[in-house]
Amino acid sequence: MRRKIIAGNWKMNMTPSEAKELVATLKDLVNNPEVDVVYCVPAIDIVPVVEAVKGTNVEVGAENMYIEEKGAYTGEIAPAMIVDAGAKYVIIGHSERREYFNETDEFLNKKVLKAFEHGLTPILCCGESLEQREAGVTLDWIRLQIKSDLQNVTAEQAASMVIAYEPIWAIGTGRTATTEQAEEVCKAIRETIAEIYDAATAESIRIQYGGSMNAKNCDELLAQPNIDGGLIGGASLKPDFGRIVNYQK
Ligand code: PGA
Repeated sequence: MRRKIIAGNWKMNMTPSEAKELVATLKDLVNNPEVDVVYCVPAIDIVPVVEAVKGTNVEVGAENMYIEEKGAYTGEIAPAMIVDAGAKYVIIGHSERREYFNETDEFLNKKVLKAFEHGLTPILCCGESLEQREAGVTLDWIRLQIKSDLQNVTAEQAASMVIAYEPIWAIGTGRTATTEQAEEVCKAIRETIAEIYDAATAESIRIQYGGSMNAKNCDELLAQPNIDGGLIGGASLKPDFGRIVNYQK
């Protein structure tokens, strides 16, 4: 049985002081020993948040990372910095990074490989635009993203990682994918993993849904056989996040 993983994606929110306050507010609400809970936070918040979650069940993740070890890359964050700061996860290929920062699948594949090299667990995002959904090419597009982003990733590595399916039209819009739409794509992702690797790897990899998941719709989404958790933006900054972590089975 796969363990559910509920991750907050704080995006570009929370100063270090606000971050500490939010961790304190959520502390008693996110206590569910049956679920992996992760706060993916802005780079500058990693150190204070790692400190603030000490002694709790919460792990910390970065929202992005560069592909080089160190050197003349002004403004970038190296994987070793994230590891040394105490984070265990890193979001790779969020649609906002693909769109606003022109991150390509080729580049994201390098990031995935680099994360594994440093022992970080990637939360690899994929998702289609509204135009693609309306054109009926969603599943083809998602398969292409997954296959491109996982080039040279071993079965053992893939089995340990997390994939987040986030339809772009559902992110931050309040327009959630229907349970059927979310399950259909998460199932197709698992089938793609089985195709690239094998059935055991597909059984083991955890697939999240993301895109306006909230306290109201989480129970139904998380009840789906191929949805192993959520990547949560807006609702991760509110007490609602605790309700999602403690979803009703
Ligand atoms: P949202 O964001 O929950 O605010 O839609 C999800 C995400 O972008 O990861």
